[in-house]
Amino acid sequence: MSAIGWYNGTLGKPDEMTVPMNDRAVYFGDGCYEACVAFGTRVFALEAHFDRFFNSLRALEIPFRTDRAALKAILTDCLKAANEPCAVLYWQASRATAPRTHAFPEGGEPNLLVTVTPKTLLPPERTLRLVTTEDVRYAMCNVKTLNLIPNILANEHAKRSGADEAVFVRDGLVTEGSHTNVYILKDGVLYTHPADNRILPGVTRRILLGLCREIGVPVAERAFTGDELIKADEVLITSSTLGVRRAETVDGVPVGGRAETIFNRIASAYERIFSKEMRA
Ligand code: PDD
Repeated sequence: MSAIGWYNGTLGKPDEMTVPMNDRAVYFGDGCYEACVAFGTRVFALEAHFDRFFNSLRALEIPFRTDRAALKAILTDCLKAANEPCAVLYWQASRATAPRTHAFPEGGEPNLLVTVTPKTLLPPERTLRLVTTEDVRYAMCNVKTLNLIPNILANEHAKRSGADEAVFVRDGLVTEGSHTNVYILKDGVLYTHPADNRILPGVTRRILLGLCREIGVPVAERAFTGDELIKADEVLITSSTLGVRRAETVDGVPVGGRAETIFNRIASAYERIFSKEMRA
């Protein structure tokens, strides 16, 4: 099969399916989402994505009534219908379908939209080119809302610059990427921005920090500057779809390459967890 779309119980081809104009996702982006990697019906770190999804729903006060088990059953049905060896599983919940008023509408049930899109993962050795850009986002970056305008503008800027990803810098400090988390290795320590309201608490980040502690790589959740990024022993990028990767340039300047052994230990530890879960 190929890409699959699902909306409130109807399955079809995403390009051909329609959603009501009054779905609040359409005119307000009033909802939240998750994106994961799936091999067949096996989803990597699904429970961690559920944790974050239900946290986002709580933060937005969306009265989503589908519980984890029911949601998992819907997602599995979509994955079965797509029957793809490797895909991105995406789902979003919006508050309701109702005429446009800023305050929450009276009544109305949340909407659930799911897509399964075939995906070819980048080979693990592929390094990334980064560009820095000002972080103009708001103070709710910890909630995975549908409001991604600064992220898409930043990522388009990266693309136009011949790079793979844009790295946000706020008041001189690196926060995260347009759709990734960012880290540096310096003198054997892994640094990354604390999981506060300035970044999304990445599922890959959570796994990475846990396994660094396991394999004895010290972790410091403290923000670093753009200058520290350039001078780092290694620059690391993570996301569900990219896994754990090394950056090769920032704004066209070569970076890292000075702590390859530690990077390789971290990346192989992640690869082991990923393969184990996806083969189990
Ligand atoms: N993006 N930061 C931002 C702003 C993100 O959008 C993402 C994920 C991450 C990494 O989170 P995780 O490790 O849970 O994927 C960090 C997804 C992949 C997306 O929007 O498609």
